[in-house]
Amino acid sequence: MYDTKMLAADADGIAEAAELLKAGEVVGMPTETVYGLAANALDPEAVKKIFIAKGRPQDNPLIVHICDIDMLGQLVKDIPEAAYRCAEAFWPGPLTMILPKRDIIPDVTSAGLATAGIRMPSNKTARALIKAAGFPLAAPSANLSGSPSPTTAQHVFKDMNGRIPCIIDDGSCAVGVESTVIAFERDGVRLLRPGFISVEDLRELFDNVIVDKGVTEEVAANAVVASPGMKYKHYAPKADITIIDGTQEQFREYCKAHSGGELMLMVFDRSDAEGLGIEYIEYGADGEAQARLLFDTLRRLDELGAKRVYARCPDRSGVGLAVYNRLLRAAGFQVIRL
Ligand code: TXA
Ligand code: MG
Repeated sequence: MYDTKMLAADADGIAEAAELLKAGEVVGMPTETVYGLAANALDPEAVKKIFIAKGRPQDNPLIVHICDIDMLGQLVKDIPEAAYRCAEAFWPGPLTMILPKRDIIPDVTSAGLATAGIRMPSNKTARALIKAAGFPLAAPSANLSGSPSPTTAQHVFKDMNGRIPCIIDDGSCAVGVESTVIAFERDGVRLLRPGFISVEDLRELFDNVIVDKGVTEEVAANAVVASPGMKYKHYAPKADITIIDGTQEQFREYCKAHSGGELMLMVFDRSDAEGLGIEYIEYGADGEAQARLLFDTLRRLDELGAKRVYARCPDRSGVGLAVYNRLLRAAGFQVIRL
């Protein structure tokens, strides 16, 4: 058991966290997407502690975070030209690229895969921490496996109190959903997990952007998937969530007709729920707001003891696809299309 300490996102806090990382410990790290549980990506013993703190299945690989482009070539090989174009356009930022790994990345980090996911975060505290540590940081989202990703240091504390020595508190995450994950194919790019860097953004660079089926469809437990994370039921709040896909009018009609039984609504704004006499919680009127608020909303539903929830379906363009992808998992893929 650790006495988990909150550190400020200043020079002293970063220096203290970097010392812990050098000693092989795991620290709570802010990024622009969600908070991460960081450890030395090149030290198998340190990385094992991440899996233990999170209760994460050993076959789900970690993303390796870097702070400058020179680190890329030290970690991965056979880097296609397309990857450099992505780095130029989107790094530092919320994009993870899957590339063939070098031996320096231990198997525990890549979960035995021949590839590794690499990302250069834009959050200044994260980059300063990597620089101060002097090695790349493996970091999954800092939630207990199965619970919503943390977008504040308090969320991390709730899940990790006693499990890690410290958390750097850098406020709320600017983006709020995890990074976009892509892989490179002969003549295009495959989207494995949607994020703030959208399909539309990628299409500005590449003619051929394939959205993997696992992004919007449920994969069977025994299926061979392009990204192991697709298999897991993530972000599952205790409430039974159903996504209701339709116009505001259709949504209101449906909720009215199916109210009762401790129903609660998860809506864009009050106009979706006003006058229905059903308790509701707002999660944002546009994709970017929804991305920032989604995980906090899911955690609040649990705190409110919500049992049955109807969530208004987000628009699937831009970052909305990422919101939809996460909400779909939180809802166990239950969608009613009106
Ligand atoms: O925004 C983010 O990416 C956050 C912050 C902390 O940087 N991290 C994060 O990590 O979301 P995690 O571990 O929760 O999600 C990593 C995802 C998983 O779905 C995993 O399966 C996939 O990336 N992934 C990692 N390495 C992979 C690889 N070599 N091949 C395919 N998928 C990979
Ligand atoms: Mg995660």
